Amino acid sequence: EKGGYPNFMMKEIEEQPRAVADTLLGRTDANGHLVLDELRIDEAVLRSVDKIVVIACGTASYAGQVAKYAIEHWCRVPTEVELASEFRYRDPVVNEKTLVVAISQSGETMDTLMAVRHAREQGAKVVAICNTHGSTIPRESDAVIYTHAGPEIAVASTKAFLAQITACYLLGLYLAQLRGNKYEDEVRELLRLLAEVPDQIQQVLDGIEPVRALGREMASAKVVLFLGRHVGFPVALEGALKLKELAYIHAEGFAAGELKHGPIALIEEGLPVFVVVPSPRGRDSVHGKVVSNIQEIRARGARTIVIAEEGDDDVVPYADTIIRVPRTPTLLAPLVTTVPLQVFACELAMAKGLDVDQPRNLAKSVTVE
Ligand code: BG6
Repeated sequence: EKGGYPNFMMKEIEEQPRAVADTLLGRTDANGHLVLDELRIDEAVLRSVDKIVVIACGTASYAGQVAKYAIEHWCRVPTEVELASEFRYRDPVVNEKTLVVAISQSGETMDTLMAVRHAREQGAKVVAICNTHGSTIPRESDAVIYTHAGPEIAVASTKAFLAQITACYLLGLYLAQLRGNKYEDEVRELLRLLAEVPDQIQQVLDGIEPVRALGREMASAKVVLFLGRHVGFPVALEGALKLKELAYIHAEGFAAGELKHGPIALIEEGLPVFVVVPSPRGRDSVHGKVVSNIQEIRARGARTIVIAEEGDDDVVPYADTIIRVPRTPTLLAPLVTTVPLQVFACELAMAKGLDVDQPRNLAKSVTVE
């Protein structure tokens, strides 16, 4: 069943080009308009939404953080992301004009389900993004986009995460189209760029051997930090979470802009720091600021492991190790930059002799609050 792979996680990491491609399949109607899988909400209600709240747990919540950047940029609707367990018990302000997006691979996570029920009781409409057909969360929601990652066996999420991000982009483009924020040709162009991403993920996987070697070499690391900015920030958080879950290493992700407000105090000789570098293109690029961050931590002795786009030479002087990823539009970058971090965590955990498919204390689907 593992198809020649040492464990399900490696298999699922390798299946990611397919998971993203399948999630993009068959999303347009005869007129080229995006469609959701199930829609029990009047389109007029979706046009009147004045706030979006994304709720999820764990890795799925980081997909939600990526969604915030894309949805606000494309749809101009204020978007918040909150852990389901926090949302449910803090008396959140939601009403008929709120659209709640619940992201869950299993569709059975109790924290997320309770948050969905609470939101609907307040009159909000709920869109579920889910990998499991007919599970509880999509059944209790007003609309559904299914991710087509296929069954995910390994407890820690990999391919479902990339599929969730993909579904979030589809939702953002759907809302932008419906609400008239984007012209049809703009939506079509973004869908075209999205359709190129599976091949770009495959390129990352084809060149992954140095990342595996790095994972094996760093098997005795005690602490690893991850920095990212813009959509690279949730990627950094996910990189850290994977290392905690799989390798039981103390790992933290930080927003690169926050470095000087605290985390830089942690930097000492030899401390490994992964930096997810944003695209150097784009009007509001924070690329230069992140390159300065790499310079600052390296000057203080950090071992800098930099994930940067092909052709980005600005990072070269400050990087101890460079992991290259193909060029993508800025907002789509998490679909490629996440992959080396997953492989690194998996390989390091394997080098430690750990069970990457079933890490200690974790369950695939947490059906208690
Ligand atoms: C955790 C899993 O318990 O639940 C994570 O170990 C997962 O991998 C999280 O991200 C949320 O699960 P789901 O099914 O709601 O996406």
